[in-house]
Amino acid sequence: MKQDMIVILDLGSTENTVVARQIRDMGVYSEIHPHDITVDELKALNNVKGVILNGGENRVVDGVAVDVMPEIYDCGFPVISIDHPTSKCETKYDSLPDDATMKAFLFDVCKAEANWNMKNFVEDQVELIRRQVGDKKVLLALSGGVDSSVVAALLIKAIGKQLVCVHVNHGLMRKNESESVVEVFRNQLNANLVYVDATDRFLGKLENVADPEQKRKIIGAEFIRVFEEEARKLEGIDFLGQGTIYPDIIESGTKTAKVVKSHHNVGGLPEDLQFELVEPLLQLFKDEVRACGIELGLPAEMVYRQPFPGPGLGVRCLGAITRDRLEALRESDAILREEFAKAGLDKKVWQYFTVVPDFKAVGVRNHERSMGYMCVIRAVNTIDAMTATIERIDYDILEKIADRITAEVPSINRVVYEITKKPVATIEFE
Ligand code: XMP
Repeated sequence: MKQDMIVILDLGSTENTVVARQIRDMGVYSEIHPHDITVDELKALNNVKGVILNGGENRVVDGVAVDVMPEIYDCGFPVISIDHPTSKCETKYDSLPDDATMKAFLFDVCKAEANWNMKNFVEDQVELIRRQVGDKKVLLALSGGVDSSVVAALLIKAIGKQLVCVHVNHGLMRKNESESVVEVFRNQLNANLVYVDATDRFLGKLENVADPEQKRKIIGAEFIRVFEEEARKLEGIDFLGQGTIYPDIIESGTKTAKVVKSHHNVGGLPEDLQFELVEPLLQLFKDEVRACGIELGLPAEMVYRQPFPGPGLGVRCLGAITRDRLEALRESDAILREEFAKAGLDKKVWQYFTVVPDFKAVGVRNHERSMGYMCVIRAVNTIDAMTATIERIDYDILEKIADRITAEVPSINRVVYEITKKPVATIEFE
């Protein structure tokens, strides 16, 4: 293994990720593990050089202060504690040590080497994946989003054709999105890729369904059903690959932190389809996942793409989805993305898309009164998607986008720019 590691044990701190980032910024790989890890489990991790007990405001769970296993204090690795003065640890800090102190711990006390970089991370993960999987097969739902694409590329590097990727096109993908998944993974990376065009099936189920929650439920449930059907057709699969990343774990709740929102992994698969999970990105933050994708040679458009909701264009084609409105949405969205890229806004704005409501407005086309759809442009900036502000787009750019959309998408005759913050609006309309 290439990388040394510092293990952070989570004793209810809200700053585990801050400590992990501080250490990684110094060139040393760090992983966050639950407080009740055993010494054997700790020693089974690779190249551990030191341990940090990271306590904090959530240390008391159900009235009892959690602690590490007593043996951890003399496990043979250097141990420090960041917490209140009561800690049993010999070296303790009551707040995050400054960079000089942390460096002294890493390099003088633990004798760690600054060998954390994406090249080494990829090499280590390739070795770990091969060790875990052996000659067995891994199944992966490849949506084409950043996380699933990066995990696919990593698994392809490690086990090649032993990975079976399934891409379900639910008909609610953006323009050229499914095509690019096939191009990159099947044609360029030579992956074992099952492509399922389930457009008719999804749109059939969604016909006349106008309620947003109902739409989301149908799309989610149908997705699992299609994936499950494909999984049943394949033989000899023992593992399920997943692009779970560190923020997903935090949001789903750790042993000390409360649940923010359950992350939507394949918890929905039926019990008789039992797989062991392969989750090589589990300890990475989003920017690190992107760096890993670049290291693996994935195209920048795929690695730096903006967030896209699981239900896809389904929640932007408002109300009951119709094929003509969905097409208008897909085309207007493609124009918006093209113009944002030309203006350099794609690198600046966090998320931007079009929305097509389910009504028609009066317009004039070819000197005649005509009814057309309205297209809403949304462009927002945010850190964590919990709150968001709008981007102040230049009027010339907005006008050019409006001109192109109304010229190139005949069913749209109005374009508006939405200027509401979150809260009170949400980012998506449904
Ligand atoms: P809202 O609309 O809640 O969106 O302000 C916040 C962020 O979450 C994305 N989003 C989703 N992502 N599955 C996802 O993976 C979903 O069902 C979903 N709904 C919303 C949204 O695009 C925005 O970035």
